[in-house]
Amino acid sequence: MSQDANGSTTTAAPGSDGAGNGDALENLLHENRKFAPTPEFAANAVVGAEVYEEANADRPAFWAKQARELLSWDTDFTEALDWSDPPFAKWFVGGQVNAAYNALDRHVENGLGDRVAIHFEGEPGDTRSYTYAQLTDEVKKAANAFESLGVAKGDRVAVYLPMIPEAVITMLACARIGAVHSVVFGGFSADALRSRIDDAEAKLVVTADGTYRRGKPSPLKPAVDQALSREGHSVRNVVVVKRNGEPVDWHEGRDHWWEDTVGAASGEHTAVGHDAEHPLFILYTSGTTGKPKGILHTTGGYLTQTAYTHKAVFDLHPETDVFWCTADVGWVTGHSYVAYAPLVNGATQVMYEGTPDSPHQGRWWEIVEKYKVSILYTAPTAIRTFMKWGREIPGKYDLSSIRVLGSVGEPINPEAWMWYRDVIGANAGKNGEKKDHPAPIVDTWWQTETGAQMIAPLPGVTATKPGSAQVALPGIAIDVVDEAGESVPDGHGGYLVVREPWPAMLRGIWGDPERFKDTYWSRFEGMYFAGDGAKKDEDGDIWLLGRVDDVMNISGHRLSTTEIESALVSHPWVAEAAVVGASDETTGQAVVAFVILRGDAVNDGDATVAELRNHVGKEIGPIAKPKHILVVPELPKTRSGKIMRRLLKDVAEGREPGDATTLSDPTIMAQIAQSLKK
Ligand code: WTA
Repeated sequence: MSQDANGSTTTAAPGSDGAGNGDALENLLHENRKFAPTPEFAANAVVGAEVYEEANADRPAFWAKQARELLSWDTDFTEALDWSDPPFAKWFVGGQVNAAYNALDRHVENGLGDRVAIHFEGEPGDTRSYTYAQLTDEVKKAANAFESLGVAKGDRVAVYLPMIPEAVITMLACARIGAVHSVVFGGFSADALRSRIDDAEAKLVVTADGTYRRGKPSPLKPAVDQALSREGHSVRNVVVVKRNGEPVDWHEGRDHWWEDTVGAASGEHTAVGHDAEHPLFILYTSGTTGKPKGILHTTGGYLTQTAYTHKAVFDLHPETDVFWCTADVGWVTGHSYVAYAPLVNGATQVMYEGTPDSPHQGRWWEIVEKYKVSILYTAPTAIRTFMKWGREIPGKYDLSSIRVLGSVGEPINPEAWMWYRDVIGANAGKNGEKKDHPAPIVDTWWQTETGAQMIAPLPGVTATKPGSAQVALPGIAIDVVDEAGESVPDGHGGYLVVREPWPAMLRGIWGDPERFKDTYWSRFEGMYFAGDGAKKDEDGDIWLLGRVDDVMNISGHRLSTTEIESALVSHPWVAEAAVVGASDETTGQAVVAFVILRGDAVNDGDATVAELRNHVGKEIGPIAKPKHILVVPELPKTRSGKIMRRLLKDVAEGREPGDATTLSDPTIMAQIAQSLKK
């Protein structure tokens, strides 16, 4: 993955790239349906319209108030925000706080020990529920076990686990002792795991023998073994959860079963406060170059904003709500809205291990009915998949418990939004009854880097609009600016920026402060550049238009074109590669690769394509495998050698390629078209 195919990065005009074609976006921006909250909902909502004014009056003071209300501090902070050395922010200066204590012990001390924290539903149908008291106990044991394996405050721990409670237990145990977790999505390959272990110099890896996917055991431990098979890594110990019981290789002295270490550890462990700016976790995400960035988050600000947004945006009533965020803990949504915010807020949540179609396409709705889920948070790609499967499937279940619906990860098209509202939000029982007032939908925009939600309606305040994330949350300063960094008027598009520091903001890129400044803070003076295009409509509501850089969004998962190109050119048959994200009905975007084979490579058609797809799977992970690989004689390049991905995207999306006059060889597009006909 070291070789860079071409190193080119382009900044396309907003709206011309990313989410899809310009016309569709124009239509979408004329959306004029609005759904105001019902008076009953507004009356019972945990926050009202006054929060905007309060936050505008004094942002740091607003966040300081939330920090004190939502968290229990061992030592109170003396200053809300220190922004004397931008872009390096310090929030809640001098404060000491323990994330695990806030997520666990204090609820038990407050008499909520018997409340269910997690209802776990395994794919094969096995279930486990943890009360707050039980979860606290498990986390204390894991904290003791990790300490006994030599993990100390500040050490990094790689977590390569499926969606099982041990993932959350591990993350909180790390947070408790001040170790920094780096969760690597289980769908990433051994190579990707190794590069993340190396970058963070992780001492411990926590994994499982495997998991269940689509009704079959699926292995994880072999990838860890393979990642560590090459010498020269920092890992001393590997803790292995037994999940599917499949046989695994064992490295005496290095490997330890979870049940023998955590299971045997003492349940006594006192949490001490860590500095508000103590690193909580690193999470790698794709950028515009081949090397994933280790996004660093710290403790006090992150916990404050995740907890606040979880409460305000989902209108959380922790005594009665059952929250279900369907994201995997391998992604930021699973960090903020599975592992941290729901527990800090003392909520009851559902965690599901498997795929939505195992063993049948109604599995999610069966889970909603069974646990009476009241707040569901998922991604547009899932909604579009359910649309494809048909409304009869959710129609067979009683989803009347649902009162708030959330969306995250990619722009939600108005059709999917309306379907979500009508089929899921209005379901009043399995006999096809409809609610008069369907559940409000909150479309939430944010990123791995922002740590928590940034733009979203408030369900008891905002009249929602299908397809728009609408308004900056209280205490968040969002703007859309033009090339020169000037705020655009309503009715215009530009680049999405954040104008003021926010509590959950990334504190940097692990080990690379220069890249942090270059990537986010150099495009516009004094502003955070998110990499997304956006538009303000006539009401001033914000519409997200997709990425303006070389980052793709496949099923709400971030992948970099350059990273996949690097993987392709690392194959001996490939001379050059160019990757584009082409619009896809279900996954939002799909990876389409154009490759030029080396002179000595034989093009065996399907067999060649299969080999290259698998190679990308091995280098990065199955999620990065291109949907289509097209073998072409040449790539369209400008005279300065930059690949014109725009033209390739036209081909990938089945359009006549646009203006090709700036190509070094204007006949190339015809040659490509010719080669694809063969
Ligand atoms: C996109 C996921 C439109 C956006 C939380 C962003 C969205 C990237 C939305 C971050 C949304 C996320 N509407 N686009 N509601 N939410 N995005 O880091 O392009 O995995 O920059 O964080 O997803 O993806 P990430």
